[in-house]
Amino acid sequence: MPKVTFRALDGDRTLDVVPGTPLMQAAVDEDVEGIVGECGGNAMCATCHVYVPADAAADFPPMSEAEDEMLACTVSERRPTSRLSCQLPAPQHDVLVELPEEQ
Ligand code: FES
Repeated sequence: MPKVTFRALDGDRTLDVVPGTPLMQAAVDEDVEGIVGECGGNAMCATCHVYVPADAAADFPPMSEAEDEMLACTVSERRPTSRLSCQLPAPQHDVLVELPEEQ
């Protein structure tokens, strides 16, 4: 099964994730610290903010308008690599995302 690594300032958490599972859901199910997912994955809270390294950007679907608007509400700095992890289905292969300092 593909592995998803959540990289935080204090270390990595790597999970086996069924392809297609939203990264937020995978993280919440395994109590990954730093992913909250307050709205349950509806792109309405921005507490599942992650940074997707540029070389992994093509692993995920393009950003919707709703996600783009919600990313204006992140607690931590929005970067060009910012995404909402509830909108990111796990790919068929290993991937790494970085967590912001705060949600
Ligand atoms: S879980 Fe709320 S925006 Fe992703």
